[in-house]
Amino acid sequence: MTMTTHANAGLRPEELRKQFPALSRTVNGKKLVYLDNGATTQKPLCVLEAMDRYYREYNSNVHRGIHRLSEEATEAYDSAHETIAGFIGAHSWQEVIFTKNTTESLNLVARSLLPTFKKGDEVLLTQMEHHSNIVPWQQLAKQHGLVVRYIPVTDEGILDLLAARKMLSAKTKLVSLTHVSNVLGTINPVREVAGMAHDHGALCVVDAAQSVPHMPVSVQELGCDFLAFSGHKMAGPTGIGVLWGRTELLERMQPFLYGGDMISSVSFQDAEWNELPWKFEAGTPVIAEGIGLAEAARFLTGIGMDSIQRHEQALARHACEALGSLKGVRIFGPRERAGLVSFWADPVHPHDLASLLDQDGIAIRAGHHCAMPLVVEVLKQPALARASFYLYNTKEEIDALAAGVKKAQKVFG
Ligand code: ALA
Repeated sequence: MTMTTHANAGLRPEELRKQFPALSRTVNGKKLVYLDNGATTQKPLCVLEAMDRYYREYNSNVHRGIHRLSEEATEAYDSAHETIAGFIGAHSWQEVIFTKNTTESLNLVARSLLPTFKKGDEVLLTQMEHHSNIVPWQQLAKQHGLVVRYIPVTDEGILDLLAARKMLSAKTKLVSLTHVSNVLGTINPVREVAGMAHDHGALCVVDAAQSVPHMPVSVQELGCDFLAFSGHKMAGPTGIGVLWGRTELLERMQPFLYGGDMISSVSFQDAEWNELPWKFEAGTPVIAEGIGLAEAARFLTGIGMDSIQRHEQALARHACEALGSLKGVRIFGPRERAGLVSFWADPVHPHDLASLLDQDGIAIRAGHHCAMPLVVEVLKQPALARASFYLYNTKEEIDALAAGVKKAQKVFG
């Protein structure tokens, strides 16, 4: 299968935008200003074309057929795992499992590790987790007598590592934390936390849904044991997520879903599991999505993850200045942050703000951001507005956002 390569064009958002068809549309007669990239990102032509080519030219099931189309599909799908392994600095493509999304990846870890836990074992999370990294552990705890504890978040919006040190003990079996908070934009010191977890014999799981799309991420450098992220937040398709795990752990773990393709042999009495990663990819997998995701990874690599991170952080600084200069606007999260800004603009409720901005073609997210415990219990807010950026956003778009917020404040003031 030939692979499209992308020349390193540097980061010129005005140029890059041309590769994203959805960005050229209008909303309510206004040019679209898409600032909801934390929820999902737009897709470049190369991703759309790679998936279209699969369906038009070599649509077939993988790992099954001994015919040309199936061989081509198998080659493209399997090599997508290699591309993703390279993208996150994994030692082996066999450590890369394609799932449905980050949520499924985290559920996979929780469920498959369950037999290694016993009553009273502790799982340490943080107060800034997304629901996808709270609810699976909470439910396991309820059903199997585990204890879930939360590392507190300081007033500045960073993890309280002193508290974390005190919470870790021989009872801690696993620490699971987000790399980048989808509400605060905080970039967590994963390497340090993973080291602390390992010192206590605990595993470290990382929710990288908001980091892998936006900055260079190497699982070896992070020193974690598992890492989960989604395709659709990194210019790839919906319906595909990734779980990376260390080979020795994945080999010892029980499968998550049972059925076709994840077995090496089946009798009426029993079954044996296929080799990694197929042991964890039951049934017909996400073929077109895997091909699209690999194309997205090549696209991002061609631009350069360092450049993408620098661009987004510059946008976040600009947004903090532009929004922060408005009377009645309170910004949440630390100064040093990833490319997103959550805020409250007095006296406008975030839902009203999002509706008013939409009239001007500006898309933001409003609500609890799938992090209700953080927003409601820690930040004590009923909801927040959030602008989240990607490689194609510009300072002019942020200025349009700030002007829209000011206008909304006047309407409600
Ligand atoms: N987790 C996604 C967000 O933060 C949906 O918007």
